[in-house]
Amino acid sequence: MRTHSFAFTFFCAATTVVASSSHNFEARNVHARHLIHARQPPIEKRCKTRTESESTSSTFADDSVQSSSSTTHSVTPTSTSTSAQASASSSGSGLLSVVSTCGAIGATLDITSQSGPNGNIYWINCGLSDDGWNPVYVNISQIIVKDLNTALQDSSTPFSACSSYIDKFNQYGEELNVPPIFIASFAMQESSCNPATVGGGGEEGLMQLTPDKCTDAPNGDCQDVDYNIYTGAKYFSDLLDSNDGDLFLSVGSYNGWYKGMTYADATAAASSDCCRCQQNLDYLHQFFNGWIQNYDPYANDLGVYHNLDVCGSD
Ligand SMILES: *[C@@H]1O[C@H](CO)[C@@H](O)[C@H](O)[C@H]1NC(C)=O
Repeated sequence: MRTHSFAFTFFCAATTVVASSSHNFEARNVHARHLIHARQPPIEKRCKTRTESESTSSTFADDSVQSSSSTTHSVTPTSTSTSAQASASSSGSGLLSVVSTCGAIGATLDITSQSGPNGNIYWINCGLSDDGWNPVYVNISQIIVKDLNTALQDSSTPFSACSSYIDKFNQYGEELNVPPIFIASFAMQESSCNPATVGGGGEEGLMQLTPDKCTDAPNGDCQDVDYNIYTGAKYFSDLLDSNDGDLFLSVGSYNGWYKGMTYADATAAASSDCCRCQQNLDYLHQFFNGWIQNYDPYANDLGVYHNLDVCGSD
């Protein structure tokens, strides 16, 4: 049962880099990107143009620091921030440590195209290439996450575009028991923190609320910053509650993922008239090892699937 009805936008950095086959497992996911079953996209999925996503990279100001990452593939970071890697610690080692039901976590302090403090992308996407997505349980006291206010003190923070809304992220995060950097991350992912963003399916504002979420908006203005942020944050908070604090499941659900989703399910829309209605299979890695580490996943091209690249610019 699909439970989401929220905003789904698919930023896809205009990458020209293709992950090589040198990563050592599940390479078939990458190479299977053209072997897609023709199916209709979920009707609630909506798309957004690439133009809006490209604006995110302009907020990544500091490109003077070269990466020392130990990437094992051919992706060359164009810019990076060592601070995001050095201080990604909210627990002893700075690396996610949970009981895994899906093999090695593969977490690394370095943020690379396929890993980072919260684990390897294939581990986060556990099951995707087999029987379907079945994420390992990770909750808020286990995840490696930056504090939003601290993150903003870093000159290379991707959240500078959100500076006008930080107080709201903090306020509603506290009120709803959601880390403020999660709310900021959704806002970056959905709208690059531009409150005037309107999506292809009529999604509105910072959190790209679908029209059904806008019915109570003050004066009918769904772009109202207070209403928009609160409503998006509340939706996520409710997901967390119903999922017993399961973060991978809840963040995935927010973006349209569901338990049991296979690679074919996620990419079915590639051959439809709404190519961007595919799930971005790099999304959870971008979220957990990118945004919430105060690290721009688009500017740094995080991910290995790049399954939206086949879609072109619309
Ligand atoms: C997180 O999960 C661990 C392991 O299942 C559990 O011991 C802990 O109480 C959980 N913490 C929260 C805040 O849910």
